Amino acid sequence: MQIMSKIDDLRHQCKQWQSNNKSIGLVMTMGNLHAGHMELIKAAGKHADQVIVTNFVNPMQFDREEDLRAYPRTMEQDTLLLEKAKVALLFAPTVEEIYPSEIEQVSQVQVPGFVDRLEGQARPGHFVGVATVVTKVFNMVQPDVAVFGEKDIQQLLMIQKMVRDLNMPIDVIGLPTVRESDGLAMSSRNNYLNDEERSIAPKFHQVLSKIVKRVEAGETDYRALENEAIEELLGYGFGKDYIEICRIHDFEPAQAGDKNLVVVAAAWLGKARLIDNIKIPA
Ligand code: PAF
Repeated sequence: MQIMSKIDDLRHQCKQWQSNNKSIGLVMTMGNLHAGHMELIKAAGKHADQVIVTNFVNPMQFDREEDLRAYPRTMEQDTLLLEKAKVALLFAPTVEEIYPSEIEQVSQVQVPGFVDRLEGQARPGHFVGVATVVTKVFNMVQPDVAVFGEKDIQQLLMIQKMVRDLNMPIDVIGLPTVRESDGLAMSSRNNYLNDEERSIAPKFHQVLSKIVKRVEAGETDYRALENEAIEELLGYGFGKDYIEICRIHDFEPAQAGDKNLVVVAAAWLGKARLIDNIKIPA
C-alpha cells in the first residue's frame, strides 16, 4: 500500500491510474477504523480497480474544539488494517496540507435545504465543513465511485445532492449501518463510553426500532411517538438531543400519509454523542 501525505503525489498517482483506464474508488475517513469502515472499503473494491482511503480528522467540521482534540487518532493500527484490506493508497495529509491558510479564509461549500435541520441545527457549521473537505478531496482524486455509510444519513444525502447539483461525475454509494451484535451502530465515538454506559447504549437502537414497529403497525401520531421515545431514553440516562420521524427526501417532519420515512436520532451518553437512524420504507 502506498502512503501519501502530499496532494501533488496523490494527484500524480490518480492521473496515472486514470490514463491506464483504471477506475478509482474512494473511502473518506477520519481514521480510528472499525468494521463499518472495512465494509465501505470492501464495497469500493467491488466497484473500482483501485481503492483510495483517506485518513484526515477534518478540523473544519468540528463545532467544538474539545471534541476535535479528543477525537481518537490510531494511525498505526488503521494502517495495518488497510494493508490487510489490500487498499492501494492511503492518503493521510496534515491539517496544513489541506488548509494552508486560516480555515476561516477557505472558500466554503454550502448545500442548502434539509442540511440545516437536525444534525445541521445541532452542530452549526458541521455540514459546511464536511461538504468543503469532501469537495476538496473529490477534486484531488476525481474518483469514479465514493462510498459513505448510512449511519450518517444526512451527510450521505447531502453529498449525493451536492454531487448532483454541482455536476460532479461521481457515483456516491451509501451502505447500510454496521452494528455491534447488540444493535449499537459502530462509531469511533463509542470509544468514549465507559463500561456502564456501554451496557446502556444498545437501548438507543432498541428505542428507535420500537418506533419503527409502531409506525409499521399503522400509528401516525408521529410527534407523540417521538416524545414517548425521548422520555424512555431520558429514563435510561441518555441526555436529550433529537428524535424525529421524517420524510427521507427532504428531512421534514413526517405527517400522516407520508411515505418513505426515516427515524433519525442523536442522544448523549456520558461524553459520547450517539447518532443513529432506521429507514421505514413505504
Ligand atoms: O463521515 C466522516 O467520517 C467524515 O464526515 C468525512 C466524510 C470523512 C469527512 O471528513
